[in-house]
Amino acid sequence: MTDTLTLRRPDDWHLHLRDGAMLQAVLPETARHFARAIIMPNLVPPVVTGAQAASYRDRILAALPDGMSFEPLMTLYLTEDTDPDDMAAAHASGLVKAVKLYPAGATTNSASGVRDFDKVRPVLERMAEIGLPLCVHGEVTDAEIDIFDREVVFIDRVLDPIRKATPGLRVVMEHITTRDGVEYVRANETDLGATITAHHLIINRNHILVGGIKPHYYCLPVAKREEHRKALVDAATSGDERFFLGTDSAPHTDANKEMACGCAGCFTATNTMSLVAEVFDRAGALDKLEGFTSVNGPRFYRLPVNDQTITLQKGEPVTYPDKIETRDGPVTVFDPGFPLHWRVV
Ligand code: DOR
Ligand code: ZN
Repeated sequence: MTDTLTLRRPDDWHLHLRDGAMLQAVLPETARHFARAIIMPNLVPPVVTGAQAASYRDRILAALPDGMSFEPLMTLYLTEDTDPDDMAAAHASGLVKAVKLYPAGATTNSASGVRDFDKVRPVLERMAEIGLPLCVHGEVTDAEIDIFDREVVFIDRVLDPIRKATPGLRVVMEHITTRDGVEYVRANETDLGATITAHHLIINRNHILVGGIKPHYYCLPVAKREEHRKALVDAATSGDERFFLGTDSAPHTDANKEMACGCAGCFTATNTMSLVAEVFDRAGALDKLEGFTSVNGPRFYRLPVNDQTITLQKGEPVTYPDKIETRDGPVTVFDPGFPLHWRVV
């Protein structure tokens, strides 16, 4: 039985670090295991310009504890007013690695996102020209579309038309949650990848709703039926290079989660590697873990893989704190509901 695994140091291709006290508290949780992460720009106000991204990057590096190393890979928040020249300059300087598309109103702090996709055509065309990837929150926001159908409808009505109209645009479908998402990636050979979170590999919609409502399992896109979770596990563990880890670790204080209108987001930064190792072990696919966490992402983003390694060991169940403390209040760590046997040593 394999009980030790050495992997290239992993990266997180979709991460929320926030700002201020929250940033200070959650950054070490990621930097402990991950070398780099694609940093989501949905701050208030959002990170729209190259100058804002540079200043956010400085705040992240300033919050990094001594002795830890971590490289934030910055993104810009796409708005209908995004300036293509500013974006291209931020990319050319090496600062910005992707642009994030939030349909307006789709999720936390997405009010400045895109309403009219025609208005961002010039920006998307420029991105295709310069090879700057578009990270997509793939959900429509129309009130009449059922929340469980919003990903598949987005693929048909928004994503596929954008990709057809913009040849060469490199797209990451972020945090896919459906078999339809998996199939869309598989059917498209070029310029398309997808991130998968640890929590969507573990929970389905029953986990959120059966036996009492579980606010800490509520995230967006919301977890779907079990058949979709299985399709995600199948994609992640298949070795297909188009699928890679993006945790979407999204801290909110317990006060903001456990309320009448609670925030969306699962906080997984602390235990991600144990979570995904357990999932891959159960699937008999530990040999595919390094591809998913450490190789496929850099390949898509055309960045070198990390030289350093981390080692995981299997043994007695590993425990993590239930919560991490922040100056804003406690943040609950994602509970998979089963024991985790792999620890990073
Ligand atoms: O669950 C989520 N939380 N999904 C998102 O898309 C945003 C994120 C957040 O920022 O809290
Ligand atoms: Zn996110």
